[in-house]
Formats: sequence, C-alpha cells, structure tokens
Amino acid sequence: MDKLIIFGGIPLKGEVTISGAKNAALPIIASTILASGIHTLKNIPKLKDVETMLKLLKILGADAYIERGICNIDTTKITNFEAPYELVKTMRASILVLGPLIAKFGKAKVSLPGGCAIGARPVNLHLQGLKKMGAKIELEEGYIVAKAKQLKGTKIHLDIPTVTGTENLIMAATLAKGTTVIENAAKEPEVVDLANYLISMGAKIKGAGTSIIEIEGVSELNPSKEYEIIPDRIEAGTFIAVAGICGSEITIKKCKLEHLHAVVNKMKDAGVDFKETKEGLKVTGPKKLRSVDIKTMPYPGFPTDMQAQFMAMMTVAEGTSVIKETIFENRFMHVAELRRLGADITVEGNTATVRGVKKLKGAPVMATDLRASACLVIAGLVADGKTVIDRIYHLDRGYEDLDKKLIQLGAKIERVVD
Ligand code: EPU
Repeated sequence: MDKLIIFGGIPLKGEVTISGAKNAALPIIASTILASGIHTLKNIPKLKDVETMLKLLKILGADAYIERGICNIDTTKITNFEAPYELVKTMRASILVLGPLIAKFGKAKVSLPGGCAIGARPVNLHLQGLKKMGAKIELEEGYIVAKAKQLKGTKIHLDIPTVTGTENLIMAATLAKGTTVIENAAKEPEVVDLANYLISMGAKIKGAGTSIIEIEGVSELNPSKEYEIIPDRIEAGTFIAVAGICGSEITIKKCKLEHLHAVVNKMKDAGVDFKETKEGLKVTGPKKLRSVDIKTMPYPGFPTDMQAQFMAMMTVAEGTSVIKETIFENRFMHVAELRRLGADITVEGNTATVRGVKKLKGAPVMATDLRASACLVIAGLVADGKTVIDRIYHLDRGYEDLDKKLIQLGAKIERVVD
C-alpha cells in the first residue's frame, strides 16, 4: 500500500489549480446512461473513484475513455443492467446508476451498499422515492432489484436532504411520465451541475439549487455537446486549510468562491485572509490561527467534507474550538490519528473539543477515509519532523495529485509506492 512521507515545517508559496469536482463528475457520468449516444465531458478529475464509475459503465456495456481530462462515453450498447457487489463495495456512489437504469431500461439490479467507515449510510430514501414513482423494488441476496415499465411523476418529500438520493431521483424523473416534485431536496452545487447537464441533454428541470425541484418528464434525452464539470469546492477548501495552517500565501486558480461561502467565513474568523485577484483567489494564512467553532450542515452550511481538514487547522490554533458533526455518525476517525501527532482533542458524541497546542510532532499515522487522509496531510505539513501516512489509497480516490500539487508549492513530500 502506498504511503506518504511528509517533512513538516516548510513554508509554502505559489499557485495551485483546482481539478473538476469528484462529486459532480460521478453523478454526471452515471447520467449518461439516460441518453444513448456519445457524451463528451470536460474537466473530469483523474481519480480512482472516476475510474471505478467508468469501469461500472463499461460493465453495463458502455465504452469510455479519458484523454487529457476529456472523457468520452458511448452509451449506445448498454445491454447489462447489473452493478455487481465487487464494484459497489469499493465505491458507494455506484448506487447512482440505479435511477438512470430504471428510467431508461425499466430494470436495474444494483448491489446494496454496505456500511462505510464514516457511518451506516442507508439508501432507504433513494428507494422510497423510486417506489413512489411506481418502481417495484425487492431485495434479493444483497441486491436491489428494481423494475418499472414506465416511472410516473409524483410528489416526493425527502426526510433528509440526501445528496445522491436527490440526484438518483432527479435522474429517474427526467424520463418519467408527468411531473415529479422533490421537496427538501439537497441544494449542493454538485446537484445543480448534474441538473445543468441533464438540461443540456433536453431534460426539463426547475429549481435545482433550492429545496424544491420540479422535473417534467420527457420521452427522450440526447447527449449534448461538450459539458464542463464545475471545480471541486472541497479540494479548494482543502488548499485554503493548507494556506491557513502553514501561514502561507497560496493563489487558488479555478475555484468558485460562490460555492465556498460557509468555509471562507469560518476561515476568515480563524484569521485567514482572502483576496480575489486576476490570477485567482489569493489566500494568506495568519502567523497564529484563532480557534473557531463549526457545525457541519447540508449546503449552504459548513460541509461535512471539510470538517476533518478544519479540525487539523484548529489543533494548532490559539484557544479551544468546538466541532459538531451532524451529517455522519462516525466521522471523527481522524481524531485518534491527530492525537498521535500531539493534538489535544476530546470527543463526546458528535462533538469534538480541540484545544490548540503550540506544536504538532511528526509520527506514523493511518488514513481511514478520504477527508481524514487530507486532514492528516494538512497536519503533517506543520508537524515537526517526519509524518508517515499509511493507506493513502483513500486520498487517491478523491484528490487529483494532492501530493504533486503540494510539492509544486514547496512542500517536502515523498510517495512510497508498495
Ligand atoms: N441518509 C439516510 N437515508 C438515505 C440517504 C442518506 O438516512 O437514503 C442519511 C445518511 O446516512 C447521512 C445523511 O443522510 O447521515 C446525508 O447523507 P447523503 O445521502 O447526503 O450523503 P451521500 O449522498 O451518500 C454525498 C457525498 C459525500 C458527502 C455527502 C454529504 C457523493 C458521491 N458523496 O454522499 O461525499 O459527504 O454527500 O455532503 O456525492 C466525500 O466526498 O468524501 C464524501 C463522503
């Protein structure tokens, strides 16, 4: 298993370009199932999860390849409707093929994702919504087996504004008969990006980005001309945290500030400075960070996907920070690893109390999930001496070349390939 060795305490400076958003690319790739033909997607990030989603589409019968960030997917020969366990267990986002397969082909067999390091993550709301649209759904030997001659438009109220649940239902509704209204829908920019791609294919969708989304079903969708995926707001947020903790000046190119309000506000409270320049967003970390409390919330609140990285910053801030995780029940796995670097953190239920220390000290640590890995990289950049991060395959699932981008900014990082 690959490891990263980080030599901390080196000042960083320079520019970094943000890649396409993982959590927009994955549903958009799945949505190509809805329209037979050749789809051309730009700004697709080079990530393990994207590879896995393309592999899944190939299993279904599509042809897909990426060349210089441009992904071509030919969906004309899809004849298989099964997402196998072996693949779904490596990436939960595989569930995103469920909605498109039932809508387009009237049948789907998708392995039920199991639990995950950060929480149980059920998909009951995806299934309830599809049932309400008329799909017959059974669980057979660990597989969701879904059938529907023609989905029907209906009103769906989501108990929780689930992101991939909203995406699955929007996709299913595009080819349903009549109008579907999704209430308490997720408002994440990635949902909006998916809706924009679907609209470019001929779908009729109103309200994406608000809590009520209305989809008027059409009889057919067609691949649109080239579509460019939005930049990854969580990758941008991660580099803001890097600048913040290192007290460095980093210009972040190709990021959308409007997707980062909650993160930027908290970063400002912590003492990080922002300037919009011609080159990009210039971010400057302070000499000493201030402690700030955060509570994760669905968009436009503070994203759970930035909680671990923000906690890394708070370990060396002046004072005490209270961090509340409200989205996932087990997303504090990085705490024990941060403690190995000398952080002073206590956890009670969904609340972590971080008392800032003067210095972190390098140590061997283990990555437990994607954002926890990023958090350890950030902490390693300021820890005295050497931090060795094991199991960084988690990092490669969701960050394009994070180590290379940091090295370009001056960091001393080695990747040990096993
Ligand atoms: N939930 C249910 N039932 C459902 C669906 C969700 O109870 O049917 C619960 C979940 O257990 C969780 C909450 O609702 O407690 C919110 O989960 P959500 O469904 O919104 O998460 P997701 O769609 O599975 C996406 C991202 C995650 C990100 C979350 C929250 C993708 C592919 N994944 O997951 O990204 O953390 O939204 O914003 O879009 C990551 O990139 O590191 C990552 C984990």
